[in-house]
Amino acid sequence: MYENPRLLLDSSNPPEPGHITWRSPSNIALIKYWGKYGVQMPRNPSISLTLAASCTDTMLEYEFLEAADDGEIDLSFYFHGEENEAFKTKTLAFLESLLPVFPFLKQLKLTIQTGNSFPHSAGIASSASGMSALALCLCSLEDALFGTLKDPADYDRKASYIARLGSGSACRSIFSYAAVWGETPAVPGSSNEFAVPFGDELHEIFKNFHDDILIVSQEEKAVSSRDGHALMDGNPYAEARYAQARQRFDVLLEALRSGDLATFGKIVEDEAMTLHALMMCSNPSYTLLRPNTLSIIEKVRDYRTTTGHPVYFTLDAGPNVHLLYPGDIIHEVRAFIEDELKEYCEDGYIQQDWVGEGPEEI
Ligand code: DP6
Repeated sequence: MYENPRLLLDSSNPPEPGHITWRSPSNIALIKYWGKYGVQMPRNPSISLTLAASCTDTMLEYEFLEAADDGEIDLSFYFHGEENEAFKTKTLAFLESLLPVFPFLKQLKLTIQTGNSFPHSAGIASSASGMSALALCLCSLEDALFGTLKDPADYDRKASYIARLGSGSACRSIFSYAAVWGETPAVPGSSNEFAVPFGDELHEIFKNFHDDILIVSQEEKAVSSRDGHALMDGNPYAEARYAQARQRFDVLLEALRSGDLATFGKIVEDEAMTLHALMMCSNPSYTLLRPNTLSIIEKVRDYRTTTGHPVYFTLDAGPNVHLLYPGDIIHEVRAFIEDELKEYCEDGYIQQDWVGEGPEEI
Protein backbone atom coordinates (compact mmCIF):
# COMPACT_ATOMS: atom_id res chain seq x y z
CA MET A 1 0.00 0.00 0.00
CA TYR A 2 2.87 2.38 0.83
CA GLU A 3 5.66 0.95 -1.32
CA ASN A 4 7.63 3.84 -2.76
CA PRO A 5 10.97 3.21 -4.52
CA ARG A 6 11.42 6.96 -5.05
CA LEU A 7 12.12 7.63 -1.37
CA LEU A 8 15.88 7.54 -1.86
CA LEU A 9 18.39 10.19 -0.83
CA ASP A 10 20.50 12.04 -3.34
CA SER A 11 24.14 11.46 -2.35
CA SER A 12 25.20 14.73 -4.00
CA ASN A 13 22.98 16.57 -1.53
CA PRO A 14 23.11 14.54 1.70
CA PRO A 15 20.98 15.50 4.71
CA GLU A 16 22.51 16.79 7.95
CA PRO A 17 22.61 14.25 10.78
CA GLY A 18 19.64 14.54 13.11
CA HIS A 19 17.40 12.83 15.61
CA ILE A 20 13.69 12.36 16.26
CA THR A 21 12.03 11.35 19.55
CA TRP A 22 8.49 10.13 20.20
CA ARG A 23 6.71 9.13 23.38
CA SER A 24 3.90 6.72 22.63
CA PRO A 25 1.42 5.05 25.00
CA SER A 26 0.02 1.57 25.36
CA ASN A 27 -3.71 0.96 24.85
CA ILE A 28 -6.27 -1.35 26.39
CA ALA A 29 -8.66 -3.18 24.07
CA LEU A 30 -12.36 -3.20 24.98
CA ILE A 31 -13.33 -5.43 22.04
CA LYS A 32 -10.34 -7.72 21.59
CA TYR A 33 -8.29 -8.44 18.50
CA TRP A 34 -7.71 -12.19 18.78
CA GLY A 35 -7.15 -14.06 15.54
CA LYS A 36 -5.48 -12.75 12.40
CA TYR A 37 -4.80 -13.65 8.76
CA GLY A 38 -2.39 -12.59 6.00
CA VAL A 39 0.09 -9.95 7.10
CA GLN A 40 -1.27 -8.82 10.45
CA MET A 41 -4.89 -8.46 9.35
CA PRO A 42 -7.50 -8.78 12.11
CA ARG A 43 -10.37 -11.28 11.94
CA ASN A 44 -12.72 -8.81 13.64
CA PRO A 45 -12.87 -5.09 14.41
CA SER A 46 -11.43 -4.04 17.77
CA ILE A 47 -11.64 -0.84 19.79
CA SER A 48 -9.37 0.41 22.55
CA LEU A 49 -8.84 3.24 24.97
CA THR A 50 -5.49 4.97 24.61
CA LEU A 51 -3.53 5.07 27.86
CA ALA A 52 -1.25 7.79 29.20
CA ALA A 53 1.24 6.58 31.80
CA SER A 54 2.38 3.27 30.31
CA CYS A 55 4.49 4.48 27.42
CA THR A 56 7.70 4.02 25.45
CA ASP A 57 10.15 6.77 24.59
CA THR A 58 12.11 6.14 21.40
CA MET A 59 14.84 8.30 19.92
CA LEU A 60 15.96 7.61 16.36
CA GLU A 61 19.29 9.15 15.39
CA TYR A 62 20.32 9.20 11.74
CA GLU A 63 23.39 10.08 9.71
CA PHE A 64 23.96 9.77 5.98
CA LEU A 65 26.31 6.93 5.06
CA GLU A 66 28.98 8.18 2.70
CA ALA A 67 29.52 4.83 1.06
CA ALA A 68 25.99 3.51 1.04
CA ASP A 69 25.95 -0.10 -0.05
CA ASP A 70 22.93 -2.26 -0.84
CA GLY A 71 23.57 -4.58 2.06
CA GLU A 72 22.14 -4.56 5.51
CA ILE A 73 20.71 -1.70 7.49
CA ASP A 74 23.29 -0.14 9.80
CA LEU A 75 21.67 -0.16 13.27
CA SER A 76 22.80 0.31 16.86
CA PHE A 77 20.17 -0.41 19.49
CA TYR A 78 20.03 0.62 23.16
CA PHE A 79 17.32 -0.34 25.64
CA HIS A 80 17.40 1.74 28.82
CA GLY A 81 20.91 2.87 27.88
CA GLU A 82 22.35 -0.59 27.29
CA GLU A 83 22.99 -2.43 24.06
CA ASN A 84 20.40 -5.16 23.62
CA GLU A 85 21.14 -7.84 21.02
CA ALA A 86 17.75 -9.58 21.21
CA PHE A 87 15.77 -6.37 20.62
CA LYS A 88 18.25 -5.29 17.96
CA THR A 89 17.80 -8.50 15.97
CA LYS A 90 14.00 -8.18 16.14
CA THR A 91 14.06 -4.50 15.17
CA LEU A 92 16.50 -5.09 12.33
CA ALA A 93 14.24 -7.78 10.85
CA PHE A 94 11.30 -5.38 11.10
CA LEU A 95 13.22 -2.52 9.43
CA GLU A 96 14.43 -4.84 6.64
CA SER A 97 10.82 -5.83 5.99
CA LEU A 98 9.97 -2.12 5.67
CA LEU A 99 12.61 -1.36 2.98
CA PRO A 100 10.02 -1.29 0.15
CA VAL A 101 8.21 1.46 2.13
CA PHE A 102 11.28 3.29 3.45
CA PRO A 103 14.13 2.44 1.00
CA PHE A 104 16.23 5.32 2.41
CA LEU A 105 16.81 3.35 5.63
CA LYS A 106 19.74 1.56 4.03
CA GLN A 107 21.40 4.88 3.18
CA LEU A 108 21.61 5.87 6.83
CA LYS A 109 23.49 4.94 9.94
CA LEU A 110 20.72 4.52 12.52
CA THR A 111 20.82 4.48 16.31
CA ILE A 112 17.72 3.68 18.35
CA GLN A 113 17.58 4.51 22.04
CA THR A 114 14.41 3.28 23.67
CA GLY A 115 12.93 2.68 27.10
CA ASN A 116 9.61 2.17 28.86
CA SER A 117 8.00 4.23 31.61
CA PHE A 118 7.17 1.01 33.47
CA PRO A 119 9.53 -1.71 34.74
CA HIS A 120 10.38 -4.16 31.96
CA SER A 121 9.48 -7.06 34.22
CA ALA A 122 6.09 -5.63 35.22
CA GLY A 123 4.26 -7.98 32.92
CA ILE A 124 2.79 -5.06 30.98
CA ALA A 125 2.85 -5.63 27.25
CA SER A 126 5.19 -3.11 25.69
CA SER A 127 4.71 -4.05 22.04
CA ALA A 128 1.89 -1.54 21.48
CA SER A 129 3.80 1.41 22.93
CA GLY A 130 7.15 0.27 21.53
CA MET A 131 6.01 -0.43 17.98
CA SER A 132 3.89 2.72 17.77
CA ALA A 133 6.81 4.87 19.00
CA LEU A 134 9.09 3.32 16.38
CA ALA A 135 6.51 3.76 13.61
CA LEU A 136 6.09 7.44 14.52
CA CYS A 137 9.88 7.95 14.43
CA LEU A 138 10.07 6.35 10.98
CA CYS A 139 7.24 8.50 9.57
CA SER A 140 8.77 11.65 11.07
CA LEU A 141 12.11 10.67 9.53
CA GLU A 142 10.48 10.27 6.12
CA ASP A 143 8.86 13.67 6.50
CA ALA A 144 12.11 15.29 7.69
CA LEU A 145 14.01 13.92 4.67
CA PHE A 146 11.39 14.23 1.93
CA GLY A 147 8.56 16.45 3.23
CA THR A 148 6.02 13.84 2.15
CA LEU A 149 3.79 13.56 5.24
CA LYS A 150 2.70 17.12 5.91
CA ASP A 151 -1.01 16.33 6.20
CA PRO A 152 -1.71 15.20 9.82
CA ALA A 153 -4.38 12.65 8.79
CA ASP A 154 -2.05 11.12 6.15
CA TYR A 155 0.74 11.07 8.68
CA ASP A 156 -1.34 9.29 11.37
CA ARG A 157 -2.67 6.76 8.89
CA LYS A 158 0.78 5.81 7.68
CA ALA A 159 2.14 5.66 11.25
CA SER A 160 -0.77 3.40 12.23
CA TYR A 161 -0.19 1.19 9.18
CA ILE A 162 3.52 0.80 10.00
CA ALA A 163 2.79 0.17 13.70
CA ARG A 164 0.34 -2.57 12.72
CA LEU A 165 3.04 -4.40 10.78
CA GLY A 166 5.15 -4.39 13.96
CA SER A 167 2.36 -5.53 16.29
CA GLY A 168 -1.36 -5.50 15.49
CA SER A 169 -2.58 -3.76 18.62
CA ALA A 170 0.10 -1.03 18.23
CA CYS A 171 -1.82 0.56 15.34
CA ARG A 172 -4.48 1.76 17.81
CA SER A 173 -1.96 3.65 20.01
CA ILE A 174 -1.49 6.43 17.44
CA PHE A 175 -4.75 8.18 18.31
CA SER A 176 -5.97 10.17 21.31
CA TYR A 177 -8.58 8.72 23.69
CA ALA A 178 -9.84 5.81 21.54
CA ALA A 179 -9.27 4.05 18.23
CA VAL A 180 -10.96 1.47 16.02
CA TRP A 181 -9.02 -1.09 13.98
CA GLY A 182 -10.65 -3.42 11.49
CA GLU A 183 -13.15 -2.93 8.73
CA THR A 184 -16.71 -2.50 9.95
CA PRO A 185 -19.80 -0.85 8.45
CA ALA A 186 -20.34 0.77 11.87
CA VAL A 187 -17.33 3.08 11.35
CA PRO A 188 -16.97 4.80 7.96
CA GLY A 189 -13.35 4.80 6.79
CA SER A 190 -12.38 1.89 9.06
CA SER A 191 -9.81 -0.52 7.67
CA ASN A 192 -7.96 -3.74 8.35
CA GLU A 193 -4.72 -1.98 7.35
CA PHE A 194 -4.68 0.80 9.95
CA ALA A 195 -6.69 2.15 12.88
CA VAL A 196 -8.88 5.24 12.75
CA PRO A 197 -9.57 7.76 15.54
CA PHE A 198 -12.69 7.40 17.66
CA GLY A 199 -11.93 10.09 20.28
CA ASP A 200 -14.29 12.66 18.76
CA GLU A 201 -17.22 10.31 19.18
CA LEU A 202 -16.39 9.19 22.68
CA HIS A 203 -18.69 10.39 25.49
CA GLU A 204 -16.90 12.77 27.88
CA ILE A 205 -17.14 10.31 30.78
CA PHE A 206 -14.75 7.92 29.02
CA LYS A 207 -12.16 10.63 28.40
CA ASN A 208 -11.84 10.84 32.18
CA PHE A 209 -11.58 7.08 32.71
CA HIS A 210 -8.88 5.38 34.76
CA ASP A 211 -7.20 2.04 34.18
CA ASP A 212 -5.32 0.81 37.24
CA ILE A 213 -3.33 -2.25 36.20
CA LEU A 214 -3.13 -4.80 39.01
CA ILE A 215 0.06 -6.78 38.45
CA VAL A 216 -0.75 -10.35 39.49
CA SER A 217 2.40 -11.80 37.96
CA GLN A 218 5.51 -10.30 36.44
CA GLU A 219 6.57 -13.55 34.82
CA GLU A 220 6.93 -13.74 31.09
CA LYS A 221 3.84 -15.35 29.51
CA ALA A 222 4.04 -19.07 28.72
CA VAL A 223 2.39 -18.49 25.31
CA SER A 224 3.06 -15.31 23.33
CA SER A 225 0.24 -13.29 21.73
CA ARG A 226 1.64 -14.26 18.34
CA ASP A 227 1.25 -17.97 19.13
CA GLY A 228 -2.13 -17.34 20.73
CA HIS A 229 -3.45 -15.67 17.56
CA ALA A 230 -2.16 -18.62 15.51
CA LEU A 231 -4.06 -21.10 17.70
CA MET A 232 -7.32 -19.38 16.75
CA ASP A 233 -6.93 -20.91 13.26
CA GLY A 234 -7.70 -24.38 14.61
CA ASN A 235 -10.16 -23.29 17.29
CA PRO A 236 -13.61 -24.86 16.71
CA TYR A 237 -15.31 -21.75 18.16
CA ALA A 238 -13.39 -19.28 15.99
CA GLU A 239 -16.16 -18.38 13.52
CA ALA A 240 -18.73 -17.96 16.31
CA ARG A 241 -16.23 -15.79 18.17
CA TYR A 242 -15.67 -13.45 15.20
CA ALA A 243 -19.43 -13.06 14.74
CA GLN A 244 -19.86 -12.36 18.45
CA ALA A 245 -17.07 -9.75 18.40
CA ARG A 246 -18.88 -7.93 15.57
CA GLN A 247 -22.17 -7.91 17.45
CA ARG A 248 -20.58 -6.73 20.67
CA PHE A 249 -18.63 -4.10 18.77
CA ASP A 250 -21.82 -2.51 17.43
CA VAL A 251 -23.48 -2.44 20.86
CA LEU A 252 -20.36 -1.15 22.61
CA LEU A 253 -19.94 1.65 20.08
CA GLU A 254 -23.37 3.01 21.02
CA ALA A 255 -22.56 2.78 24.74
CA LEU A 256 -19.28 4.64 24.16
CA ARG A 257 -21.14 7.41 22.34
CA SER A 258 -23.95 7.75 24.86
CA GLY A 259 -21.99 7.20 28.10
CA ASP A 260 -23.95 4.06 29.02
CA LEU A 261 -21.67 2.64 31.72
CA ALA A 262 -23.67 -0.48 32.51
CA THR A 263 -23.63 -1.69 28.89
CA PHE A 264 -19.97 -0.71 28.58
CA GLY A 265 -19.05 -2.73 31.67
CA LYS A 266 -21.04 -5.79 30.70
CA ILE A 267 -19.45 -6.03 27.26
CA VAL A 268 -15.94 -5.23 28.39
CA GLU A 269 -16.00 -7.92 31.08
CA ASP A 270 -17.58 -10.46 28.72
CA GLU A 271 -14.80 -9.76 26.21
CA ALA A 272 -12.12 -10.38 28.83
CA MET A 273 -13.66 -13.72 29.83
CA THR A 274 -14.17 -14.76 26.20
CA LEU A 275 -10.53 -14.04 25.34
CA HIS A 276 -9.32 -16.35 28.09
CA ALA A 277 -11.98 -18.96 27.35
CA LEU A 278 -10.64 -19.09 23.78
CA MET A 279 -7.17 -19.82 25.13
CA MET A 280 -8.52 -22.56 27.37
CA CYS A 281 -10.26 -24.30 24.45
CA SER A 282 -7.38 -23.93 21.98
CA ASN A 283 -5.46 -27.03 20.96
CA PRO A 284 -3.21 -27.28 22.88
CA SER A 285 -5.16 -25.65 25.67
CA TYR A 286 -3.46 -23.10 27.89
CA THR A 287 -4.28 -20.79 30.78
CA LEU A 288 -2.77 -17.39 31.46
CA LEU A 289 -5.14 -16.57 34.34
CA ARG A 290 -3.71 -17.07 37.82
CA PRO A 291 -5.67 -17.86 40.99
CA ASN A 292 -5.19 -14.25 42.12
CA THR A 293 -6.68 -13.01 38.83
CA LEU A 294 -9.91 -14.82 39.68
CA SER A 295 -9.85 -13.61 43.29
CA ILE A 296 -9.62 -10.02 42.05
CA ILE A 297 -12.46 -10.56 39.57
CA GLU A 298 -14.73 -11.88 42.34
CA LYS A 299 -13.86 -8.96 44.61
CA VAL A 300 -14.63 -6.47 41.86
CA ARG A 301 -18.02 -8.05 41.20
CA ASP A 302 -18.86 -8.05 44.94
CA TYR A 303 -17.74 -4.44 45.31
CA ARG A 304 -19.96 -3.39 42.43
CA THR A 305 -22.96 -5.18 43.88
CA THR A 306 -22.55 -3.70 47.35
CA THR A 307 -21.57 -0.14 46.40
CA GLY A 308 -23.21 0.29 42.99
CA HIS A 309 -19.99 1.94 41.78
CA PRO A 310 -19.29 1.49 38.03
CA VAL A 311 -15.96 -0.36 38.37
CA TYR A 312 -15.21 -2.97 35.71
CA PHE A 313 -12.34 -5.27 34.83
CA THR A 314 -10.72 -6.29 31.60
CA LEU A 315 -7.73 -8.50 30.80
CA ASP A 316 -5.24 -8.63 27.98
CA ALA A 317 -3.32 -11.76 27.07
CA GLY A 318 -1.93 -12.23 30.57
CA PRO A 319 -2.88 -12.60 34.24
CA ASN A 320 -2.95 -8.90 35.15
CA VAL A 321 -6.27 -7.17 35.76
CA HIS A 322 -7.12 -3.78 34.28
CA LEU A 323 -9.57 -1.95 36.53
CA LEU A 324 -11.63 0.55 34.55
CA TYR A 325 -13.62 3.30 36.27
CA PRO A 326 -14.61 6.95 35.87
CA GLY A 327 -12.36 9.56 37.49
CA ASP A 328 -15.07 10.96 39.76
CA ILE A 329 -14.91 7.89 42.04
CA ILE A 330 -11.13 7.67 42.16
CA HIS A 331 -10.89 8.09 45.93
CA GLU A 332 -13.36 5.32 46.68
CA VAL A 333 -11.77 2.95 44.13
CA ARG A 334 -8.21 3.62 45.25
CA ALA A 335 -9.25 2.84 48.85
CA PHE A 336 -10.89 -0.40 47.66
CA ILE A 337 -7.71 -1.38 45.78
CA GLU A 338 -5.55 -0.62 48.79
CA ASP A 339 -7.80 -2.49 51.25
CA GLU A 340 -8.93 -5.46 49.20
CA LEU A 341 -6.99 -5.98 45.97
CA LYS A 342 -3.39 -5.03 46.60
CA GLU A 343 -2.75 -8.24 48.54
CA TYR A 344 -3.30 -10.21 45.31
CA CYS A 345 -0.67 -8.23 43.40
CA GLU A 346 2.91 -9.41 43.10
CA ASP A 347 4.99 -7.24 45.44
CA GLY A 348 1.83 -5.10 45.81
CA TYR A 349 2.60 -3.58 42.42
CA ILE A 350 -0.06 -1.51 40.66
CA GLN A 351 0.55 0.56 37.52
CA GLN A 352 -1.84 3.51 37.67
CA ASP A 353 -2.95 4.65 34.27
CA TRP A 354 -5.73 6.65 32.62
CA VAL A 355 -7.13 7.57 29.22
CA GLY A 356 -4.75 9.88 27.42
CA GLU A 357 -4.21 12.18 24.49
CA GLY A 358 -1.98 9.87 22.50
CA PRO A 359 1.64 10.07 21.37
CA GLU A 360 3.75 13.22 21.52
CA GLU A 361 6.93 14.24 19.80
CA ILE A 362 9.48 15.29 22.43
C1 DP6 B 1 -5.21 -9.72 23.77
O1 DP6 B 1 -1.07 -6.98 19.12
O2 DP6 B 1 0.21 -8.26 20.88
O3 DP6 B 1 -4.04 -7.65 23.73
O4 DP6 B 1 -0.19 -8.62 16.32
O5 DP6 B 1 0.91 -10.72 17.12
O6 DP6 B 1 1.79 -8.48 17.85
P1 DP6 B 1 0.57 -9.29 17.43
O7 DP6 B 1 -0.38 -9.38 18.71
P2 DP6 B 1 -0.78 -8.28 19.77
O8 DP6 B 1 -2.16 -8.92 20.32
C2 DP6 B 1 -2.89 -8.23 21.28
C3 DP6 B 1 -3.97 -9.08 21.77
C4 DP6 B 1 -4.79 -8.53 22.92
C5 DP6 B 1 -6.06 -7.85 22.43
C6 DP6 B 1 -5.93 -6.49 21.81
O9 DP6 B 1 -5.05 -5.70 22.18
O10 DP6 B 1 -6.79 -6.18 20.96
